[in-house]
Amino acid sequence: MKPSVKPNNPCFSSGPCAKRPGWSLDALEGAVLGRSHRAKAGKAKLAEVIERSKSLLEMPKDYRLGIVPASDTGALEMALWSLLGERGVDVFAWESFGSSWAADCQKQLKLKDLRQVKADYGKLPDLSQADWNRDVVFAWNGTTSGVRVPNGDWIAEDRTGLAICDATSATFAMPLPWNKLDFVTWSWQKAMGGEAAHGMIALSPRAVKRLESYTPSWPLPKIFQMTKGGQLIEGIFQGETINTPSMLCVEDALDGLKWGEQIGGLKALIARSETNLKAIEQWVEEAGWIGFLAERPETRSNTSVCLRITDPWYASLSTEEQEKGAKKIASLLEAEGVAYDIGAYRDAPAGLRIWAGATVETSDLKALFTWLNWAWHEVKTAAVKAA
Ligand SMILES: Cc1ncc(COP(=O)(O)O)c(C=O)c1O
Repeated sequence: MKPSVKPNNPCFSSGPCAKRPGWSLDALEGAVLGRSHRAKAGKAKLAEVIERSKSLLEMPKDYRLGIVPASDTGALEMALWSLLGERGVDVFAWESFGSSWAADCQKQLKLKDLRQVKADYGKLPDLSQADWNRDVVFAWNGTTSGVRVPNGDWIAEDRTGLAICDATSATFAMPLPWNKLDFVTWSWQKAMGGEAAHGMIALSPRAVKRLESYTPSWPLPKIFQMTKGGQLIEGIFQGETINTPSMLCVEDALDGLKWGEQIGGLKALIARSETNLKAIEQWVEEAGWIGFLAERPETRSNTSVCLRITDPWYASLSTEEQEKGAKKIASLLEAEGVAYDIGAYRDAPAGLRIWAGATVETSDLKALFTWLNWAWHEVKTAAVKAA
């Protein structure tokens, strides 16, 4: 039987993610539009994003936070191109995004002393292999496999290399040990449900020191440049962006941050995400046909939850048939207006991916579960009949 109750918000995409509960275009009314972003009003908004983000994320006072172009990709590439090459580099990769950073280190930067420590979808690589006298690049949460590092215990306090962390699907959802991270990036379109376009870079004092003392051998495009004459461009960290930002996106980022503050700050944001993961875990256990792609429970993401179908009949199908089946579930639910964008990432194993960050209501997930069971039943029954 087709369920009767649909989620109020069918948005479960892993980016751009669902808007915060209650969001409407009215939230953007205060945007400074048709004005220079360098005028007092615009610059104040940009500085406000920085200050509110720092405070909401409980970042140490001596860390610098800036707004940069090209979303998280721009932010992370900025780190790779500006910091690497001074010493050996370890890249840890366990899904598509980490692998793309590793590929850039190898094929674009052509780093001579590069180690790649990799693991398949669902697993974490052996983190104990990290050598903290080298620079270490990794994503805190692998968005396309739903596998996260459980904590920062594997990161050395007394490291001499830099910890460069792509935290785009982790910030505002998972506690980050700032003192163990030197260059952290994220984008607005993830956990706070902001509009895409801009990235954030958080720099430890040691990252700043590296920038001021090391010049890479390769050319740096203007949008990657964080220093001038060997000195950090402090303006970037006060709202003087390198190039022109969208003030509409800025207003939306502010709206998300204010919502986060209102509901109780970082603790509350993390708690919402964890509650969502627990709800999914409970449903998975009861459903019987589906499981987590993440092999170890402590590595399960509480944002990009990746699921694989474990039913024995499904497991006996060819890879193509499995992919077709999983896509059919996602498209059935999209057609019903129940869930958008819940198919697995294009390079990931067949399955489903459901965003569980703070902007998603647990009640919407619970409504989705009954529909997922229904769609699974529909797809399996039709396939068995056709065989
Ligand atoms: C871990 C990770 N890194 C990088 C990106 C790319 O982010 P953006 O599209 O914001 O540049 C994503 C997007 O989903 C991601 O999840």
